[in-house]
Amino acid sequence: MRDIFKEEYARDWKNDVNTVWILTKQHLPRLLAAIVCSILLSSINGSIAWFVKPSVDNLVLLKNKSFLVFLPVGILLLFSLKGFFSFANNFLMSSIGAKIVKSLRKQFFEKMLFLPFSFYARESSGSVISRVMNDVGILESLIANTTKNFFVYSTTVFALGFVALYRNLNLALLSFAIIPLIALVSGRLGRRMKRTSSRTRMLISNVTHIIHEAIAGIRVIKSFTLEKEMSRRNDHSISEHYRNVMREVRINEFTGMFIDIIAGTGIAVLTWYGFYLIVHDRLSLGEFLSFVVAVMMMYDPLKKLSRVNNDFQMIRASLHRIKEIFLAPEEKEGEVEKKELAGDIVFQNVSFQYPDHKDSALEGIDLKIRPGETIAIVGYSGAGKSTLTDLILGFWNDYTGTITIDGTDLKDYSLRNLRSHIGVVSQDIILFDDTVRNNILFGKPSSTNEETIEAAKAAYAHEFIMNMPNGYDTPIGERGVKLSGGQKQRISLARAIIKNPKILILDEATSSLDTDSENKIQKALEGIMPGRTTIIIAHRLSTIQKADRIVVMDRGEIIQQGSHEELFEKGGVYRELYAMQFGLTSSQQPQ
Ligand SMILES: Nc1ncnc2c1ncn2[C@@H]1O[C@H](COP(=O)(O)OP(=O)(O)OP(=O)(O)O)[C@@H](O)[C@H]1O
Ligand SMILES: [Mg+2]
Repeated sequence: MRDIFKEEYARDWKNDVNTVWILTKQHLPRLLAAIVCSILLSSINGSIAWFVKPSVDNLVLLKNKSFLVFLPVGILLLFSLKGFFSFANNFLMSSIGAKIVKSLRKQFFEKMLFLPFSFYARESSGSVISRVMNDVGILESLIANTTKNFFVYSTTVFALGFVALYRNLNLALLSFAIIPLIALVSGRLGRRMKRTSSRTRMLISNVTHIIHEAIAGIRVIKSFTLEKEMSRRNDHSISEHYRNVMREVRINEFTGMFIDIIAGTGIAVLTWYGFYLIVHDRLSLGEFLSFVVAVMMMYDPLKKLSRVNNDFQMIRASLHRIKEIFLAPEEKEGEVEKKELAGDIVFQNVSFQYPDHKDSALEGIDLKIRPGETIAIVGYSGAGKSTLTDLILGFWNDYTGTITIDGTDLKDYSLRNLRSHIGVVSQDIILFDDTVRNNILFGKPSSTNEETIEAAKAAYAHEFIMNMPNGYDTPIGERGVKLSGGQKQRISLARAIIKNPKILILDEATSSLDTDSENKIQKALEGIMPGRTTIIIAHRLSTIQKADRIVVMDRGEIIQQGSHEELFEKGGVYRELYAMQFGLTSSQQPQ
């Protein structure tokens, strides 16, 4: 479903009408039923105008009493039918709108999950959220209303136009002369509408972004008393949005006003000419009134039809913002899938630069990690340690040089397969708004209860989990707000362990843990490292010393490698880091 959608989007996007058509045609039976209702509705409208002549002529001119019965019954019947078809038509079209939105939101979310990091480096979360909520929402009401209006009103205008023409050709032609004028006004304003509307959409995404950031950063806002500053930013962005919305309102209402004026002029001329014909006995009162009713009834649909253009421009603005997401390239990957990995990782002359950054984050990295080896990466903040491990996970693929895993180029792997062999505890620990158990299960959803407990025990998390009010079923809140830093780390360690991965990447959080937590995490690590290739971005003395090898990074390069003793002996960055961290003078050897 998503593939069809994507291909068609890519091919037909240039033509926005076609896109709306592609979206609506998936609900063809409903659409056809709605069109039938529209045609019936417009025929009823036509009949109402049509029957004015026989009614007026029979009642007023001929004083035909039987019409006293016909007339109210006929009116009741026509209006009941009109009500029914109008209901059916609205219902069908709204349901099409709602269905389109449902499937767009579903596909949008799936697409979002497959977008690479480079996408998220460019787009703010607010902009993405606002596209899926606001822009898709706009499509819901507009597609339903605009297409409905278009069908109903154009066929109604057609039916009424026929009645008008039939009643008096000259009068009708005169009245139709104003249509091109209306089209001209609405066309000009429609173009302005599209520009304004895309800007409004962009501005609302700023608003969303600020709200999102405020919620995510509420701790910082409170502790740094940034309430005023954040409110100021918010005020600024909602005011800007407000101004643009008002611009939209003005354009829309101007369209309406101009059309009223043009129509008023037309009506004045027509009334004069109609009565002129009646006075000269060239038109019956019934014919004239039937004509007037037809033209009056055309007025509202015409006015709404002129807005269809504005609406369509709004749809286009939203469609374009949604399109940008759907057409964004997904993560590139190969097809190699391996059931088992040994965990042999080789970097050959790898350099990498973040998009829009001029300095390289990694420069000429050569590194061989043997299966089962534990290496510790150390270096100043910003040295490129996390970046190095992100490359192993295939998060960024526009690096130069080669990375192979078990002899196969990383770019040839299927990303899902590759990532299924890697367990990660990232520096910024992300837990989901769910229970402890489910957060561990995210590592491997098919695990049994015993496996979950085992993983938690291996991560030294079981004990504190059992002390929580509902044990494993305790909800931990958004991003694990209900847990301490060390507890979060241990749960995310359990989540990595339950996967039983061949490659384990641990990016230690720099926040210092108390000795007890540190000991527990240390013990956990010792228990799970054997048999796996482990890369630890280490800050702690204990972890560094347990590693088979220490890799020292500085400004994107590997500058030293070796055992703790060797590196300490040599001096340089390693000894500096060491001294800084453990409060030793640079010549002191730790115990
Ligand atoms: N998503 C990103 N987009 C752009 N630049 C980034 C991104 N992540 C990191 N960088 C830059 O790349 C460089 C290396 O960052 P990296 O996160 O790898 O450092 P690190 O060694 O892990 O540091 P720390 O010890 O503080 O975690 C830094 O200069 C940083 O500014
Ligand atoms: Mg880091």
